[in-house]
Amino acid sequence: MAKIKVAIIGIGNVAAAFVQSIYTKKMLGTWHEKVGGFNSTDIQIVAAYDIDKQKIGLDLSEAIFRRPNVGPQFSKIPRTNVTVKPGIIKDSAPAHIAENVLAADSIADDLGESRAVIALNLIPSGMQKTSIAYANECLAAGVSFVNATPSLVACKADFQRKFKKARLVLAGDDLMSQFGGTAFHKGILDFINSRGIKVEKSYQLDVGGGNETLNTISEGIKIEKRDIKTNSIAAEIPYKFDTVAGTTDYVDYMANNRTSYFWIGARGAFGADVGIDVYLRTNDGANAVNVLLDVVRAVAHSLKRKQFGSPEQINDYGFKKLAKPVLLHEAHKEFNKKYVNDPPSKFKA
Ligand SMILES: NC(=O)c1ccc[n+]([C@@H]2O[C@H](COP(=O)([O-])OP(=O)(O)OC[C@H]3O[C@@H](n4cnc5c(N)ncnc54)[C@H](O)[C@@H]3O)[C@@H](O)[C@H]2O)c1
Repeated sequence: MAKIKVAIIGIGNVAAAFVQSIYTKKMLGTWHEKVGGFNSTDIQIVAAYDIDKQKIGLDLSEAIFRRPNVGPQFSKIPRTNVTVKPGIIKDSAPAHIAENVLAADSIADDLGESRAVIALNLIPSGMQKTSIAYANECLAAGVSFVNATPSLVACKADFQRKFKKARLVLAGDDLMSQFGGTAFHKGILDFINSRGIKVEKSYQLDVGGGNETLNTISEGIKIEKRDIKTNSIAAEIPYKFDTVAGTTDYVDYMANNRTSYFWIGARGAFGADVGIDVYLRTNDGANAVNVLLDVVRAVAHSLKRKQFGSPEQINDYGFKKLAKPVLLHEAHKEFNKKYVNDPPSKFKA
């Protein structure tokens, strides 16, 4: 079977975990072995872009472990023969890399030459203009676009139209980790609701140590990300209740790990108190990997089936920014129906 050729934009901690997942023969903890008929080993990385001089010019296998990345080495990976090249930038660079920026005017030609069919946008939060510019570069190069960042791209109707017209796929925005704070919060709320208990209030406070956490606590970005998370969580309950979810602080020695603290206040029979205090500890990079592997394979499947534009089954399953309220378990069921349980023999490679 032909490989799914992927370009990665932003070689940070999520990219590091994703690259390791591709080069690990049998990754422990794989969620869906086949999606759209593809194994994760059918994915091939053919291009990589960053704007940090410390990573540009390095083989991807070295760049993913270069500071300021702090993610763990999960597996030993060989030389990839993919060299990190300069990306583009249209916003101010995050403070921790501002002194090391090296950028190009365009990546469209290089993307085209790499023969990538899908580009993964893994740049930091808060780079709205840059994410839009990357989507336009992909349109120019004829490459489908997956926006894992909270910048708004895939939710925009004009971009959905442009990608559809160009016979490409657009997916996003803001990746939903496999078992991150948002998925966990949604899961508990759904369970409470299913037992007839009335949710009144909830909050989720995240503390983490990756560079993305550092970016996310700056005021504007914090609010943008909090809005997406909060709306995604609120979608789980069919009536209005007070909820707040967001990143609260950066603790450098936590490295790429995160602790999410949840509090839920609810009422049962006679209005009696039902309360939950719980915390969840996870690793950000590892938590992104299975969903990214699934989304990339689902996008490749959609391209093969000539289902262009922005498929809702991919967006609802893999991302936090929802076009309309969808329950987590419904989104997973619909994704499975279309991409996991659908036998690949129905179409020719
Ligand atoms: N589980 C998760 O970690 C998770 C979940 C949801 C969303 N996301 C999103 O994924 C994205 C990546 O997260 P991360 O933890 O890897 O971040 P990170 O800060 O570790 O990595 C970002 C990388 O992008 C590079 N970069 C910055 N500006 C760039 C530009 N203009 N062009 C190319 N590269 C650029 C940086 O140098 C860095 O290497 C973020 O937007 C985050 O919100 C991650």
